[in-house]
Amino acid sequence: MDRIRIVGGRRLEGTIPISGAKNATLPLMIASLLTDQTLILDNVPRLADVGLLQRILSNHGVDMMVPGKRPGESQQNGHTLHIVASRIVDTTAPYDLVSKMRASFWVIAPLLARMGEAKVSLPGGCAIGTRPVDLLIMALEKLGANIEIESGYVIARAKNGLKGAEIKFPKVTVSGTHTALMASVLAHGTTVIENAAQEPEIGDVADCLNKMGARISGIGTSRLIVEGVSRLGGARHSVLPDRIETGTYAMAVAMTGGDVLLQGARPELLQAGLDVIAQTGAEITASNEGIRVKRNGSAIEPIDVTTDPFPGFPTDLQAQLMALVSKAKGTSRITETIFENRFMHVQELVRLGARIQLDGETATIEGVATLKGAPVMATDLRASVSLVIAALAAEGETMVHRVYHLDRGFERLEDKLAHCGAAIERVSG
Ligand code: EPZ
Repeated sequence: MDRIRIVGGRRLEGTIPISGAKNATLPLMIASLLTDQTLILDNVPRLADVGLLQRILSNHGVDMMVPGKRPGESQQNGHTLHIVASRIVDTTAPYDLVSKMRASFWVIAPLLARMGEAKVSLPGGCAIGTRPVDLLIMALEKLGANIEIESGYVIARAKNGLKGAEIKFPKVTVSGTHTALMASVLAHGTTVIENAAQEPEIGDVADCLNKMGARISGIGTSRLIVEGVSRLGGARHSVLPDRIETGTYAMAVAMTGGDVLLQGARPELLQAGLDVIAQTGAEITASNEGIRVKRNGSAIEPIDVTTDPFPGFPTDLQAQLMALVSKAKGTSRITETIFENRFMHVQELVRLGARIQLDGETATIEGVATLKGAPVMATDLRASVSLVIAALAAEGETMVHRVYHLDRGFERLEDKLAHCGAAIERVSG
């Protein structure tokens, strides 16, 4: 298995191109199941999860074409996918595929909407929590689906199609909102989704669905209204920039010190995250090129932060922030409210010399002057990149094991950081 070797102590200077958002790309690809026409997606990141979802969708009969690199196109650009589900040959999503990537469970909504049936393996838990799907099932039942759970599979039927309904989520759920949206666009009548998630990736998918002929209003708010239509057509859509990748690299610069332009980043996608990074002492400047992050000599200031659904501070940046404040001039507190087990990075950061105490959902981080490189192990996607951030400012060498977690959500991470002066390389085997 690949590892990543980092020798800490280098400042970061230069430019990092921000890729298309993983958490928009996955539902956008799944939305292709809603039509027999071609969906073209631009600015698609080259990620393991995208490749895995391509395999899962081909199992349903989806054809995908990735045109070669055109003259002048650099490796930096995202790539374009031509996706067409002209005929759905199988409405079952098997355990061996769904268990590899939870978001593939979301195929249940477009399969049900288009074919009137779907049999999808329950995704199971993961490192950060049990990750139930009860609210996704609640949404489908509200829309008139008949749901049975049998031998680890969710079997959904709606032979006469789905019917518009009022869906009120008791808690904010991104997956629940994606499910309600993709199921209701072809339903008979109007659906109102109350307490909808407002993460920008939801809005990106809703914009694309409207380009395909859907009639969604209230985009960007917690109340979405969907007027069902009889069919959807093809469209072309560019994936929005990845706000979590943006926040991650901004924290890497805040950690090492330096001056980096995050090219293509859009501040309105992660204002709460940028505000927190500025509070830690980094200088954040937005321009039409992207977001510039600087820290020259000033100390890293401690902060108190609680994760929240958008527009609050994102849970997907919690581990990275903990790495940053592990070298703050004082004590910080980070409270995780979204997932019940998202502190797997704590023990690994402690191996690098961080001083962190856990008390339920709150971590108290007492800043230290130095971290020392050591072998560490990645446990989940965002935890693994928090180890990279800490290693960039640790004395000596750090070897991060199980970097396949990183490859799921960060495109060419070591290239992007090495390009800005980091001593980082991938060690194969
Ligand atoms: C999405 O996960 C993201 N994944 C996660 O990013 C992100 O952390 C999360 O939203 C929160 O922003 C993708 O977009 C592919 P939820 P999702 O449904 O949709 C509970 C990453 O690192 N819940 O908003 O699964 C759930 O257990 C990943 O890129 C139920 O109780 O998150 C959690 O506590 C990690 N019942 C909370 O709601 C349900 O039916 C939020 O979950 C569904 C969710």
